[in-house]
Amino acid sequence: MSEPLLIELSKPGRKAYCFPALDLPRGFEEALPELPSSLLRQKKARLPEVSELDVVRHFTHLSSMTFGVDNGCYPLGSCTMKYNPKISEQLAQMSEFTMIHPLQDASTVQGCLSVMYNLLEDLSSITGMSWGTLQPCAGAHGEYTGLKMIRSYFLKKGEIQRTKVLVPVSAHGTNPASAALNGFDIVTVASNREGLVDLEDLKSKLDDSVAAFMLTNPNTLGLFEKDILTISSMVHEAGGLLYYDGANLNAIMGNARPGDMGFDVLHLNLHKTFATPHGGGGPGSGPVMVKELLRPFLPKPDIILTESGYSYGWDSLDSIGKVSMFWGNFLVMVKAYVYILRMGTEGLRAASAHAVLNANYVLNKLKGTFPIPYGNTCMHEFVVSCQELKDTYGISAQDLAKGLIDRGYHPPTMYFPSLVHEALMFEPTESESVETLDAFADTLIDIVQQAKNDPDWIHGCPWTTPVGRLDEARAVKEPDLHY
Ligand SMILES: Cc1ncc(COP(=O)(O)O)c(C=O)c1O
Repeated sequence: MSEPLLIELSKPGRKAYCFPALDLPRGFEEALPELPSSLLRQKKARLPEVSELDVVRHFTHLSSMTFGVDNGCYPLGSCTMKYNPKISEQLAQMSEFTMIHPLQDASTVQGCLSVMYNLLEDLSSITGMSWGTLQPCAGAHGEYTGLKMIRSYFLKKGEIQRTKVLVPVSAHGTNPASAALNGFDIVTVASNREGLVDLEDLKSKLDDSVAAFMLTNPNTLGLFEKDILTISSMVHEAGGLLYYDGANLNAIMGNARPGDMGFDVLHLNLHKTFATPHGGGGPGSGPVMVKELLRPFLPKPDIILTESGYSYGWDSLDSIGKVSMFWGNFLVMVKAYVYILRMGTEGLRAASAHAVLNANYVLNKLKGTFPIPYGNTCMHEFVVSCQELKDTYGISAQDLAKGLIDRGYHPPTMYFPSLVHEALMFEPTESESVETLDAFADTLIDIVQQAKNDPDWIHGCPWTTPVGRLDEARAVKEPDLHY
């Protein structure tokens, strides 16, 4: 059922507000300077006149028309929407964190600076890196920042011929985009039959024109790049740097560290791995962590700890400068810090282990229904192909994703990574119970069966949403946002 706009619910005279008693002397407005008539409103503002109950029901209904991880299972691969403990939200709402100003003197925000400093320390030890910056506000923003530092590093070394960034064919789209934004040329590295980096192809592309190889591990097929130490040596021997896209850290955190794998710089998605919902446009946080060789290039200001407390550090002529207006999305950092403290080393390790276990559980349940082109086992996510279903029955990946909506599940990621045809990528996350995983897999298998018997039904899904199946290309290119 659709919901009218507040203005459509409006009836003259209804109101939902109740002003507090006037605490200024009567007639105080006469003492105010007169506003120029050009600034005065000519007509009364057309505002909705609605009762409190109208407002409450309106927004409650709107909230029930959307789908979030608090409503049900959200197996969206790569863009992970996992359950995040409410205590992180509660603590991030404390007025000590919310009622501050980014321009306040450091001496008046020591507690907040300590959260940021301690978070950087924790992230350094979780990733095996030296230090980092919390300024970037998204994963892609982190990539941009990391690559900018790589660029400055080579400029400073005088190796200006290093103009290329290598990315595997399975890379997330933001990787080549961030490299291109930094003026690098993008070179794609092939995957082998196992879905891992093809070492021969990598070798053929490594020379003194390469600045960096960007890699996520596990990769976007949910497979661990088991040759990572060889890859690291190859890249470093060619004089390049290794960039870790840490958006998939939730598969390995507490068990393996990108720093130990040989990565020189990485970004993390705090809004994914560390207790802030991902998606919906943010707010996010994409800290960048570096090894010692890139530390001078980190954005400034940094947070430093001296005998007199925490303060902002500006020194370093090599810094790439600021990448955020202020310090980044501070409340997301608070949530991440609470999460890390609450989980502890063992808790983080267990979260990764459960994420991997849950993904493999669902993978095994779906094996008889879908071909899994790469990998018999997976890390935290896996990718199936609907190509056979499409060829034989006309059922596409998109059809199945829409069918899941009608059964109360958020769709998985579709058509990514592009090396799998008619791809559906699932990431059940660590927090779902075995009952939910069973119900999800059984529902999907049931949808496939029903779709084979009744193709018209699946092509029309979703049937239960306020708007039915949209032309997705038109919905993006010609959004109808007009009232
Ligand atoms: C593998 C990978 N890299 C990079 C990103 C980009 O992160 P963001 O959406 O925060 O920009 C994502 C998004 O989830 C991702 O899955």
